[in-house]
Amino acid sequence: MPDTIYRLVYFSKNRIAGGPERIATEIDSILAASRRNNPHCGITGALVFNRGIFAQALEGRGVAVETVFERIQQDPRHGDVQVLAFNKAAERVFPNWSMAFLGQSREDQNMFGHIGRDTGFSTARIEGQRLLEIIRTIALEEEARAA
Ligand SMILES: Cc1cc2nc3c(=O)[nH]c(=O)nc-3n(C[C@H](O)[C@H](O)[C@H](O)COP(=O)(O)O)c2cc1C
Repeated sequence: MPDTIYRLVYFSKNRIAGGPERIATEIDSILAASRRNNPHCGITGALVFNRGIFAQALEGRGVAVETVFERIQQDPRHGDVQVLAFNKAAERVFPNWSMAFLGQSREDQNMFGHIGRDTGFSTARIEGQRLLEIIRTIALEEEARAA
């Protein structure tokens, strides 16, 4: 029996102080840790950073997702973490990525503008499925761009 796969989707606010260079350095370190740690526990996923907002999808065995997310949640480099979805998934959306980083080339676009507006990051809730669709669409576009 293959393991049941769970997917967690959240977004959060950047708390890294400093300018774009400092932020880029910290994101590099986050990605390095992700790519070092995630393969050991069978986690795959994607991280998007845009205009001060992180969005991340984590997929893997339930316990593995919970364990890595516990650690991520306590990271002072972000805050106001809002989980939008945590449920069983028919299959992985990012099977080939220990942690994809998306949207690097899009700081000119306000990718999550409507999320910020819709939710104010506190009260209303955007659906997890919708955020996942946004992340998936960006991933497909970046893949096409790279091809
Ligand atoms: C937005 C965000 C996403 C992160 N995603 C991951 C991740 O997918 N995997 C991971 O191991 N650490 C991730 N981290 C980093 C963890 O919070 C933590 O710093 C790291 O796992 C520590 O790894 P180390 O003990 O190997 O240095 C993330 C941090 C932030 C702020």
